[in-house]
Amino acid sequence: MMSRQERKLDHLRHAESLALTDADFSDVELLHNSLPETDLSKLDLSTKLAGMTLSVPFMINAITGGVAEAVEINRSLAAVAQEAGFAMAVGSQMAALENPVHCKSFRIVREVYPQGIIFANIGAYADIELAKRAVEMIEADALQIHLNVPQELVMPEGDSSFTGFRKRIAEIIRSVKVPVIIKEVGFGVAKEQAAQFQELGAAAIDIGGKGGTNFLQIESKRAQLQINSELLAWGISTPLSILEAKTGAPALDVIAAGGINSGLAAAKAIALGAQAVGMAGLPLKVLLKAGPEKLLTCLQQILHELKMVMMMTGCSTINDLQHTPVVITGKTREWMLQRGLKRV
Ligand SMILES: Cc1cc2nc3c(=O)[nH]c(=O)nc-3n(C[C@H](O)[C@H](O)[C@H](O)COP(=O)(O)O)c2cc1C
Repeated sequence: MMSRQERKLDHLRHAESLALTDADFSDVELLHNSLPETDLSKLDLSTKLAGMTLSVPFMINAITGGVAEAVEINRSLAAVAQEAGFAMAVGSQMAALENPVHCKSFRIVREVYPQGIIFANIGAYADIELAKRAVEMIEADALQIHLNVPQELVMPEGDSSFTGFRKRIAEIIRSVKVPVIIKEVGFGVAKEQAAQFQELGAAAIDIGGKGGTNFLQIESKRAQLQINSELLAWGISTPLSILEAKTGAPALDVIAAGGINSGLAAAKAIALGAQAVGMAGLPLKVLLKAGPEKLLTCLQQILHELKMVMMMTGCSTINDLQHTPVVITGKTREWMLQRGLKRV
């Protein structure tokens, strides 16, 4: 059986070689404001997330750790995140929880970015003890617990039983001292589960919707399995997952993720109710192909695009953008009507 380390390397290789895909926000239109009272130099991009204040509504989402190669990758990602003012999550820390030799590849993020808002990351099969150690390892500001059932089902070494998750998640939430973010990895979240996350005591949901990195595709390539194309497209899209989450769990903050690769997509995600946006595939790909300087330029361009959209919609703050007029058409509107979703 393949080791966790080999799997992590495979994920990096496949994410680098697969084409980047964008979440489909084409049904969501923001309205141009021809007479805005806005000043580019006075825009306030700060946002509140689970009691924390982010200086910009962006984070580099969970990617890696636990292999030698991850030390340099996480060092560069953390340096760029610091420069751009982004928050950052580390990849799953299970490898380091099992073998402390791997701690360095996670701790490097805190070393490089001591003032950063940094998130720890574990799977929902972890217990209280592991959760606490993951947070301590990097002095995390919050803990992400990831859910990835479709991925596990295709991974040759994956799990096939998902019982007891709710109980364990509730125990972890009660025991750790930092806010807990329940996170999908690209299959989205329905309002029924969002409501359960709220009941369990989560502080935020990273909806990880369909449209960006596709772990069914990555795992089927790794396993050399042919999967039916409709099944490969399994999941709830990123824009719909934001609406599902806000409807099911109105008290929880939402991080939008899954194929958000532009400032315009980020603006639309925020206008649908997100507090912040996470990106994984894009920063990883740009870093590996072009290096940290190009990555910084790319993230700054995305920030600039977000500012442009705020200017053109007459929004001075992230809160303004969350309440700017939006027109929702097509399949997204049909889905909203059938599912009773609201833009909250
Ligand atoms: C190479 C790679 C490794 C990842 N590893 C993790 C992980 O360890 N834990 C996790 O919660 N999410 C992991 N993710 C998922 C991302 O955090 C994110 O939820 C997902 O990729 C969707 O965002 P994107 O379309 O911007 O890539 C990984 C993503 C990539 C590309």
